[in-house]
Amino acid sequence: KKYPAEPFKIKAVETIEMTTKEQRKEAIKEAGYNTFLLDSDQVYIDLLTDSGTSAMSDKQWASLMIGDEAYAGSDNWYKLEKAVKEVYGFDYVVPTHQGRGAENLLSQIMIEEGDYIPGNMYFTTTKAHQKLNGGKFVDVIVDEGHQPSVDAPFKGNVDLDKYQELIDEVGADKIPYICVAVTVNMAGGQPVSMDNLKKVKEISEKNDIKVMYDATRCVENAYFIKEREDGYEDKTVAEILKEMMSYADGCTMSGKKDCLVNIGGFLAMNDEDIYTEATQLVVVYEGMPSYGGLAGRDMEAMAQGIYESVDPNYIEHRVKQVRYLGDRLAEAGVPIIKPVGGHAVFIDAKSFLSHLSQDQLPAQALAAAIYVDSGVRSMERGIVSAGRDADGNHCYPELETVRLTIPRRVYTYAHMDVVADSVINLYENRDSIKGLEFVYEPPVLRFFTSRFAPI
Ligand code: F0G
Repeated sequence: KKYPAEPFKIKAVETIEMTTKEQRKEAIKEAGYNTFLLDSDQVYIDLLTDSGTSAMSDKQWASLMIGDEAYAGSDNWYKLEKAVKEVYGFDYVVPTHQGRGAENLLSQIMIEEGDYIPGNMYFTTTKAHQKLNGGKFVDVIVDEGHQPSVDAPFKGNVDLDKYQELIDEVGADKIPYICVAVTVNMAGGQPVSMDNLKKVKEISEKNDIKVMYDATRCVENAYFIKEREDGYEDKTVAEILKEMMSYADGCTMSGKKDCLVNIGGFLAMNDEDIYTEATQLVVVYEGMPSYGGLAGRDMEAMAQGIYESVDPNYIEHRVKQVRYLGDRLAEAGVPIIKPVGGHAVFIDAKSFLSHLSQDQLPAQALAAAIYVDSGVRSMERGIVSAGRDADGNHCYPELETVRLTIPRRVYTYAHMDVVADSVINLYENRDSIKGLEFVYEPPVLRFFTSRFAPI
């Protein structure tokens, strides 16, 4: 089916606030035109992120009641460890409070001052941890990853030539690992092919470089492989996921996305030495290696979510619901990143607001305009998110986007229609949208708390 109906029924409902346009105009002004600074009760449809916003299943809610809140050796930890080993296939697991907790451990363990960390496009928190530990992120994604209108099946792939060139240039001993994100969030949720993962592993093994995945949306990536890559159409998503992971030495995971929970994450690996170091560090930053900053109930819910995430009906509906929104926008001529990725529809704000320069923060301005129009909250993923370089100048990313991120199992196709109608309406009146300028800017991860004013 092109757009399958929900493979679940609704057991509990959460009422959402309705606001008027006048109220929203006031609210966005108070929030400094930053959608991160809006209160959630000012939002009608919240597409800020797919992180921690999933609806848990009845079985997950039930699992909260069997939380074993012992300080050490909780039963729920063993369940989580078993789920990760079974579904992802790694030998060792260290729980963390969320993805960046795992990134912190990995970066501290593996990176030395002056190292280079190649990756298929940066992610904000991942890059921040690499930098804090003296590493330099180097983008080795294929060129199409930066080109919003190029329609290719695996725009998240690592460019093997760029990777090899980096090895030749700086030397393999300066590259502790390559970080491969499956899928690539900032490129629009674009997947990496199995063939590419295999080749990355080959090059890395030859050069004694470890392969660490950012597995945050790996189940969505597995679904795209099933849909698009020859030889995988008859395999299950669970089988594909296991095979993907077999080409990695470990991964960081934000359980808040593909593990279908509101909080949680882990670092997994096959190397015992890295594991030992991770258990030494996790007690400093998170907690015992058997809870890593999580309550027993949260680990139980994550274990259950891991199994549910590879359910074929769930993942098919998930990816196709996102595609439905993208298709509606594309059919109306709204410029979006193509093809539509796994977790979100990314509007190409540079092209949508072609009358603004990148310094006028088009994606930030468009996100604010969408909120005022319909109460839909989206997120800037452009120059504001990219931050500044070592010399203090703005980074100018090629992709200047507004992300409409779809929480898992939360909204219906009717909600997607509300979003589409609003964005299409704004597109028809795009000339009236003005640019923004910074009035407050924090030094790191500035997009979270910056404030802006219209110019
Ligand atoms: N890696 C990727 C690709 C992510 O998208 C995120 C989070 C993280 C790592 C960090 O995980 O939030 O659990 O610490 N992305 C969220 C987003 C915040 O909205 O895209 P975390």
